[in-house]
Amino acid sequence: MTFKITTQILTTCLFTIRATAIWPIPLDYTHGSTFLWLSPNVVFSYQPDSGVNLAANAPYANTTSQNATNQKSSIGMDSYSIVQAAIARTQDELSNDNFVPWKFHPRNSIFEPPSNVSYGTISNVTIQQNSTDPPNVLKPLAGAVDESYSLIIAVNGAVMINAVSSVGIIRALETFTQLFYTTGDGKSIYTNLAPVYIQDAPKFQHRGLNIDVARSPFPPDDIMRTIDAVAYNKFNILHLHATDAQSWTIQIPALPPLADLGAYMKGLSYSPDDLAAIQTYGAYRGVQVIIETDVPGHTAAVGLSYPDLVAALNIQPGWANYSAEPPTGQLKLNDSAVYDFLGKLWADLLPRVYPFSAYFHTGGDEVNANVYGLDPTVNSNDTKVIQPLLQKLIDYNHDKVRAAGMTPVVWEEMLLQWNLTLGADVVVQTWQTDTAVANVVAQGHKALAGDASYWYLDCGRGQWIDFAQSTAQAAWPFADWCTPTKNWRLMYTYDPLAGVPANATQLVLGGEVHIWSEQVDGVNLDDMVWPRACAAAEVLWSGSKDASGQNRSQITASPRLSEMRERMVRRGIGAGPVQMIYCTQNGTQCAS
Ligand SMILES: *[C@@H]1O[C@H](CO)[C@@H](O)[C@H](O)[C@H]1NC(C)=O
Ligand SMILES: *[C@@H]1O[C@H](CO)[C@@H](O)[C@H](O)[C@H]1NC(C)=O
Ligand SMILES: *[C@@H]1O[C@H](CO)[C@@H](O)[C@H](O)[C@H]1NC(C)=O
Ligand SMILES: *[C@@H]1O[C@H](CO)[C@@H](O)[C@H](O)[C@H]1NC(C)=O
Ligand SMILES: *[C@@H]1O[C@H](CO)[C@@H](O)[C@H](O)[C@H]1NC(C)=O
Ligand SMILES: *[C@@H]1O[C@H](CO)[C@@H](O)[C@H](O)[C@H]1NC(C)=O
Ligand SMILES: *[C@@H]1O[C@H](CO)[C@@H](O)[C@H](O)[C@H]1NC(C)=O
Ligand SMILES: *[C@@H]1O[C@H](CO)[C@@H](O)[C@H](O)[C@H]1NC(C)=O
Ligand SMILES: *[C@@H]1O[C@H](CO)[C@@H](O)[C@H](O)[C@H]1NC(C)=O
Ligand SMILES: *[C@@H]1O[C@H](CO)[C@@H](O)[C@H](O)[C@H]1NC(C)=O
Ligand SMILES: *[C@@H]1O[C@H](CO)[C@@H](O)[C@H](O)[C@H]1NC(C)=O
Ligand SMILES: *[C@@H]1O[C@H](CO)[C@@H](O)[C@H](O)[C@H]1NC(C)=O
Repeated sequence: MTFKITTQILTTCLFTIRATAIWPIPLDYTHGSTFLWLSPNVVFSYQPDSGVNLAANAPYANTTSQNATNQKSSIGMDSYSIVQAAIARTQDELSNDNFVPWKFHPRNSIFEPPSNVSYGTISNVTIQQNSTDPPNVLKPLAGAVDESYSLIIAVNGAVMINAVSSVGIIRALETFTQLFYTTGDGKSIYTNLAPVYIQDAPKFQHRGLNIDVARSPFPPDDIMRTIDAVAYNKFNILHLHATDAQSWTIQIPALPPLADLGAYMKGLSYSPDDLAAIQTYGAYRGVQVIIETDVPGHTAAVGLSYPDLVAALNIQPGWANYSAEPPTGQLKLNDSAVYDFLGKLWADLLPRVYPFSAYFHTGGDEVNANVYGLDPTVNSNDTKVIQPLLQKLIDYNHDKVRAAGMTPVVWEEMLLQWNLTLGADVVVQTWQTDTAVANVVAQGHKALAGDASYWYLDCGRGQWIDFAQSTAQAAWPFADWCTPTKNWRLMYTYDPLAGVPANATQLVLGGEVHIWSEQVDGVNLDDMVWPRACAAAEVLWSGSKDASGQNRSQITASPRLSEMRERMVRRGIGAGPVQMIYCTQNGTQCAS
């Protein structure tokens, strides 16, 4: 009798549960409403296929150093250790998330499993990898590593994870952690969703966050925390926009003055050890860290150490005719000294990032023609004069990237504005318009989506330029160029495949969501990026349409995103709230 009453209470409460865990939503996900405890001594057994490639990643082990910020990077990096590290993180999260989901249940309701009723316990998690990892498992070209997995939790508590690759196991374990909650007394961990059946795989193979570490040189700890959050959301790429007009943040031992004089302060730059530590940290989480050095535009910071290499260096006043932002300056376009410089730069940097990256981004955005009118090696602002010189420079850079074993990435202007001839291997990153992806693939090139009108996280904060009395009136109310703020709902409607014909969708590798850092540093980084970037993560992992081909529902996504936000906060990410508690306690009340 008592048992019946209890069951009835539980059933009533379960009916009101809006959040069903897991962000991004898996491809195929069904669940029940049975409680299961998680044993404090839960055992994860990894049974690699006999052919698991233990030697695959030997080079990684030797690129790490004792100075690396991340101590974990000093362990050998092979498939087995990657999975063992993922299991250790999973156990850590399960014990420490301490996530009591009261915000997702009606006021003062009872929603926890009563401790005096007997439920099954999860004590073993069996992990099976059914294929050998490819040698490039941690730095794949888009699609080269299969990230799919299955996860089954039976009502009796048996758990089985199956994946093709060790990265698939990382994804599966992340999903697993998101199914559990902690009781209000902090003593027990449970799921209320058994039985669980998940078969999951990403829609897009390139799922990235681009973080501008040039304008704001975030300490490695901030970047690593961001990698954590990136991995929680099943992104697989962190793109470091590492150099820009305002500051050069990568130390190049072959060219010491570059960072010594080009950083905001000597030392405010990433040493080779820092970079290796960041890339290693990503690799352990199935996140490939891609480096961008932006040339030939956005290079005023080079002029701080090598002024002879830069044309139109820091023109003031009147910068607006020569660049989108101060300071002005671009690498001279027809100067053998610039080629010598780039040769040294690539010879130093490319081999260092190669062990961790399949791609290298050579920039190419916002090249300003007027600058070359002031460049004594060109003396012309005519695009017909500039174009072949630009072609020669890009060919040189891309040949170096290829010779170092990587694939070049460029911003869209190189193709769509300057009409350069790019190798078929080159990936073109779009940002300016919602037709750019379609225009890139129409030329047969691989494209990354990330339209500024949807996926720029920095927009809507207002201007950072200071206006004189004479210009203030025209600039009032000081909105920035890409205002308004891209809220998560807008980001969620972005379809990377919009306008792309069916026969070209395979050329859309995926996309990146962007955080430019004119007004961001470690203090507001988390809140600027999360949870909004989660919306892009779900579009990239799950697709922007649901199983019936409709736009995904905000009404079902919102409580799930709120829940993800709570979980991220528990894990140390300073993500802002999605909605007030009034809404999350009953997801239908705030629907329109
Ligand atoms: C890595 O270092 C170990 C021990 O120092 C050495 O035995 C091994 O040959 C090195 N591997 C490579 C690829 O250099
Ligand atoms: C670590 O850094 C110190 C000083 O910063 C340096 O003397 C030492 O050689 C470095 N060790 C390694 C293994 O790079
Ligand atoms: C479990 O405890 C609740 C109160 O916490 C009580 O109402 C219920 O009767 C108990 N159920 C059983 C099966 O003992
Ligand atoms: C769980 O694992 C333990 C230790 O490996 C083993 O003794 C036990 O039989 C396993 N239980 C199940 C249900 O597989
Ligand atoms: C390997 O695991 C994946 C992911 O669960 C599954 O789709 C695939 O069918 C499995 N392959 C074999 C041969 O078991
Ligand atoms: C840009 O150049 C034009 C003439 O070419 C000039 O009238 C204008 O003032 C300049 N703009 C700025 C911001 O200096
Ligand atoms: C381009 O060059 C021409 C010829 O030197 C000059 O008259 C014109 O002002 C320049 N345009 C800009 C925008 O600098
Ligand atoms: C580029 O430089 C070379 C050698 O200095 C010169 O001969 C050539 O005319 C220049 N090209 C342009 C377009 O200015
Ligand atoms: C590139 O092609 C477009 C479209 O044909 C044209 O508008 C543009 O002027 C060209 N750019 C250059 C630098 O030739
Ligand atoms: C679906 O989303 C697209 C943007 O991707 C938008 O243009 C369209 O209006 C939306 N459709 C509905 C029914 O909301
Ligand atoms: C897709 O089909 C169109 C029309 O048949 C053709 O022009 C285009 O080249 C095709 N695109 C790709 C990427 O195959
Ligand atoms: C949730 O909100 C709906 C709509 O306002 C209401 O009908 C329902 O009773 C509420 N449920 C709870 C448990 O508060």
